[in-house]
Amino acid sequence: MENKKINFGRSLIVPSVQELAKQSMTKIPPWYVRHDHHHPASDDAQAPSVPIIDLHCLLEGSCAELDKLHAASKERGFFHVINHGISESLLEDFKREVLNLFKLPMEEKLKLWQEEDNPEGFGQLFVMSEEQKLDWSDMFYITTLPHNLRQLQIFQKLPLILREKLEGYSIEMKRVAMTILSQMAKALGIEKEEMSELFHDGFQSVRMNYYPPCPQPKRALGFSPHSDADALTILYQLNETVGLQIRKDGKWVTVAPRPDALVVNIGDIMEIVSNGVYKSIEHQAIVNSNIERMSVATFYVSNMDTELGPARSLVAQHNVANFRQVPTKTYLKGFFLLKGLMASHT
Ligand code: OGA
Ligand code: NI
Repeated sequence: MENKKINFGRSLIVPSVQELAKQSMTKIPPWYVRHDHHHPASDDAQAPSVPIIDLHCLLEGSCAELDKLHAASKERGFFHVINHGISESLLEDFKREVLNLFKLPMEEKLKLWQEEDNPEGFGQLFVMSEEQKLDWSDMFYITTLPHNLRQLQIFQKLPLILREKLEGYSIEMKRVAMTILSQMAKALGIEKEEMSELFHDGFQSVRMNYYPPCPQPKRALGFSPHSDADALTILYQLNETVGLQIRKDGKWVTVAPRPDALVVNIGDIMEIVSNGVYKSIEHQAIVNSNIERMSVATFYVSNMDTELGPARSLVAQHNVANFRQVPTKTYLKGFFLLKGLMASHT
């Protein structure tokens, strides 16, 4: 079994925003101040939210639900998933332990802080230059699957109960991701075997996000605009604080949390595998002045040992491949490096 860890490049070490936000201040430090972004107009409340997909109906073989999934993936790139079958107690327990993780005293957190060559742990991702604007958030990033790519030195430092709940959560996230991916294959006309070969032993990582209240919320962003590099992201919004926004017709549209739903979005890999039929949509997170917000994103990526490109069965149907073929590993390394490069120029 290969045990070599994959290094996705370096990130500069940044201070904790959670700690910073505890100080009373009226102005945020300049490296958090943006000059180039817009919050949505105040009539945003009327904006249509994202489609809702009922996973139970999908599994029962409902054609209408499959059509809905297909349309949502083509046209919106984001949707809510209800009746996902994850036990409420697991979700509650996991949520509590994530909240506790961010409540650890700083001296405990420092033992879990990112190191220069390793993005895993507490900190921020993609910080490549001193001039770059920083997000108004802290995150904790960790690889969960496959087991041989886990960084044991980080896992073993996590509180035991969190480790246990994360294990259960990761299994459930893989189940939901695989279910949705196989239904997408069905909707797109990708052969079952091809899809499962790509994803059955996929790479999974978890990013826990903590957005503290911000004294100047209109001048900062909790999470800069980006698209996800993975195949499918599942976002669990831990509280009802609004923050996630997605691009629609050139505007930012807010996705209000629904307590009974997970937010699922198409990542760049699924856009490629679907030969461009499904869309990986740009999104961001805004912050507000009086209340914290927390979320957990679980990223699911094709197996590191596979070739990434439009599905063979789709290229045969479309008679054209809209993307090149590259090894999944090369693609991901390239993505992280490119992000770094671009970040230093914005
Ligand atoms: C992410 C992400 C948005 C949010 O983690 O990739 O887009 O609302 N998170 O936390
Ligand atoms: Ni994202």
